[in-house]
Amino acid sequence: MRVGLYQSHPIFGEVDANVERAMEDLWEIKADLLVLPELFATGYQFISKEEVRKLAEEIPNGKTCQAMLELAKRKNVHIVFGLAEREKENLYNAAAVVGPAGLVGRYRKTHLFFDEKTFFDPGDTGFQVFDLGFATVGVMICFDWWFPESARVLALLGADIICHPANLVLPDCQEAMKTRSLENGVFTITANRVGTEARGGKEPLTYTGESQIVGPRGRVIIRAGKGETGVFTADIDPEEARDKSITARNHRFQDRRPEYYGPLTNPEINKSP
Ligand code: ACM
Repeated sequence: MRVGLYQSHPIFGEVDANVERAMEDLWEIKADLLVLPELFATGYQFISKEEVRKLAEEIPNGKTCQAMLELAKRKNVHIVFGLAEREKENLYNAAAVVGPAGLVGRYRKTHLFFDEKTFFDPGDTGFQVFDLGFATVGVMICFDWWFPESARVLALLGADIICHPANLVLPDCQEAMKTRSLENGVFTITANRVGTEARGGKEPLTYTGESQIVGPRGRVIIRAGKGETGVFTADIDPEEARDKSITARNHRFQDRRPEYYGPLTNPEINKSP
């Protein structure tokens, strides 16, 4: 199967133009699965909750989601993309999964980064996987990478491919995702953006590019440049993610010792210094 990622440079608040450019850039691409960045249609650096509310949209009735549904149907492709989601009074940093037959699912970011804590509600979907027929995909968003539990849970749920819409501003994600792929035996597709945003007198945010696809043995299959934009594709075999062996006598999942992992699910531990 062919997978692809879109490394973009959105203009803050210009939803129509950003979506239109994505539609044009993706139109010629033949792929089974495409991953777009976090908040690809709105931009990232919000300066008020009101601004988020104005630009956020409902899934699946909002215009970004409708455009992606149209693209998915016309091009017979599944698309995972990040968007600001509004549901009643709540605002989420979310991702939607759409395909030729319509909306497949949504994920709301679990671990909010920095000022996102002011603008978004914490995600309440938890980590989920979606069986697309040709592969099972899981979704996590940007800063979720910092918490290895995110990828581990998705792998344990059966993800072959972790789709990772991102707007990365910290330097270490791309290298860390090689380990997330290796230890879980999964493909990871990190779709990042480029450019700088400096809005409302806030610290400028420079996005790191270098979107990548990593294979289940931790090797980078494709990596975009720091500043370039465009669509990058690779042919992969999701079957490779179903072999979880490490050596003839070691296995990523069967060798786990969950009886010793209790602190991972003990909320009291979060209060440790
Ligand atoms: C991030 O989570 N967008 C840094």
